[in-house]
Amino acid sequence: MTNRTFTMIKPDAVEDGHIGAILNDINAAGFRIVAMKYTKLSAEQAGKFYEVHQERPFYGELVSFMSSGPIVAAILEKDHAVEDFRKLIGATNPANAEDGTIRKKFARSIGENAVHGSDSNENAAIEGSFFFSALEQF
Ligand code: CMP
Repeated sequence: MTNRTFTMIKPDAVEDGHIGAILNDINAAGFRIVAMKYTKLSAEQAGKFYEVHQERPFYGELVSFMSSGPIVAAILEKDHAVEDFRKLIGATNPANAEDGTIRKKFARSIGENAVHGSDSNENAAIEGSFFFSALEQF
């Protein structure tokens, strides 16, 4: 079934010059770009985006990192998009990610892990609409 997922190329991967290589991996894996923007989150916006994690010990660090520099936000479409994108990016901790995955190749650490990928169709829709209006999705 064709569905959508949401991703961000995080500040570490942007700073390290990996935008092009990551987009190339995303294209090569068969995802269609539905929406995309280069932007920077305020601490308040990053806090809101990650509010499901607000009780976690790493929440402050996560919000500070995600608002530390520009990101690329995108909505992607493919059959089984959520599941297949999580396979493409690999485990949250790059030390545990399989060879060839985006996090294995480009992430710095569990906190600075290069990319975000939605964990469900429901969250993909919520996260996509955080960044994009209906008029910005094609
Ligand atoms: P992401 O998939 O964007 O969703 C939540 C993020 O929290 C996750 O990627 C990591 O970047 C971050 N995260 C998860 N676990 C830890 C941790 N133990 N320490 C720091 N950051 C973490």
